[in-house]
Amino acid sequence: MSAPRKSMHGEWSGRFAFILAATGSAVGLGNIWKFPYITGENGGGAFVIVYLICIASIGIPIMMAEVMLGRRGRQSPINTMRSLAEEAGASRFWTLLGWAGVVAGFLILSYYSVIAGWALAYVFRTGSGLFLGVTADGAGSLFNQFIADPEKLLAWHTIFIVMTMAVVSRGVSGGLEKSVRFLMPALFVILVILLGYAMNTSEFSRGVRFLFNPDFTKITADGVLTAMGHAFFTLSLGMGAIMVYGSYLPKNISIAKTSIIIALMDTLVALVAGLIIFPIVFTNGLEPGSGPGLIFKTLPIAFGHMPGGIFFGTLFFILLVFAAWSSAISLIEPAVAWLVENRGHTRVYASVVMGALTWLVGLLTVFSFNIWSDYKPLAHISIFEDKTVFDLLDYLTANIMLPLGGVLIAIFVGWVLRRETSMHELDIHDRMHIGYRTWHVLVKVVAPIAVIIVFLKGIGVIDAVFG
Ligand code: PHE
Repeated sequence: MSAPRKSMHGEWSGRFAFILAATGSAVGLGNIWKFPYITGENGGGAFVIVYLICIASIGIPIMMAEVMLGRRGRQSPINTMRSLAEEAGASRFWTLLGWAGVVAGFLILSYYSVIAGWALAYVFRTGSGLFLGVTADGAGSLFNQFIADPEKLLAWHTIFIVMTMAVVSRGVSGGLEKSVRFLMPALFVILVILLGYAMNTSEFSRGVRFLFNPDFTKITADGVLTAMGHAFFTLSLGMGAIMVYGSYLPKNISIAKTSIIIALMDTLVALVAGLIIFPIVFTNGLEPGSGPGLIFKTLPIAFGHMPGGIFFGTLFFILLVFAAWSSAISLIEPAVAWLVENRGHTRVYASVVMGALTWLVGLLTVFSFNIWSDYKPLAHISIFEDKTVFDLLDYLTANIMLPLGGVLIAIFVGWVLRRETSMHELDIHDRMHIGYRTWHVLVKVVAPIAVIIVFLKGIGVIDAVFG
């Protein structure tokens, strides 16, 4: 076997640092902003069950696969895929998987940053007391006025991109690792405080039922695809973020255990967010399916009425910004690491270039909420009928690119990588080890088949052919 590689970008200081960083990547807007609103749009409980099944049966196994590839390759996803394919005697086309991931990360960050900008703005809006005593209608119209203003969105988007690139430019242990050390515990504490508020609203039990009582008549094939896509999105899978973080993972740290811990924490945060949002939604007679503005229309009501609301509200949005920040850096890290490796740029230069590009593409999202809000570029295709440019970017990345990237990672690990390699990385010495065999069947067969079926059904191909 060839000598183990070392990463030129450095390493995490240990297991805890990796868990923090990967959890920082996983926990973000996906959990607190996106999970509640897509759950609301897709009818609640049944959607949540499909999502949880996807996390357990596809998400965790693929996360292990991705970390493994990263640690084996020790480079940016593009170069990792190239080296590992070469080593396994497989086609160089696998390098394209690394490229697709870089593009996906870049596209996601372009809109992610705009939404994170909303959260930034809400730090100040909440802090200034704007929401004191606010009604449901009031919170809704304050939000609508806010997103109708392209200049404001642009300014906050710009600030967030600068913040992200400032961390990325400082590198693995100096930048990435430091930023997540205190964030995760603090975020969790404030979520628990908000949960306490939600439990005291009159419709708490209705919120719980909405989230956990499945009504399978409410879920469509497209909803199943959205749930699966979200499992990838929320765990940061399918585009190389977890792979590149795995490339900084020291030897001798258990990939299986850390992956399970990360997935559990991510899921817990999403479910708690749901338990906070839906009781507030129902208590105030709001619509669970009201789209991307959901948390920005509901949480200010809670902050406007609870004791210490200004304090807790401001703190909440600060933490949301931190959660988004630690995810954003992982979205762009694969691209930056590649520029450093192959083009010999400094991290600072690479960060500036990528930041500028992402900023520019982010304008598409900024305008989707105001001057282009009626522009539906693919209106002639029925599933895209009512989708703005932002909606399309979200669909393309979360529902198409991440699941397909994830499947290819699973196929590579299941079929191309030698068994000895995956056993070695997972520290397994017995081929018959039950955990190992379960994992292997999941990545080799179950995940690819499941993802492809959900995917073809979700975009309507199966119905077109067999219907
Ligand atoms: N997991 C992040 C979130 O839930 C988003 C993300 C997706 C980050 C893909 C990295 C890669 O907010």
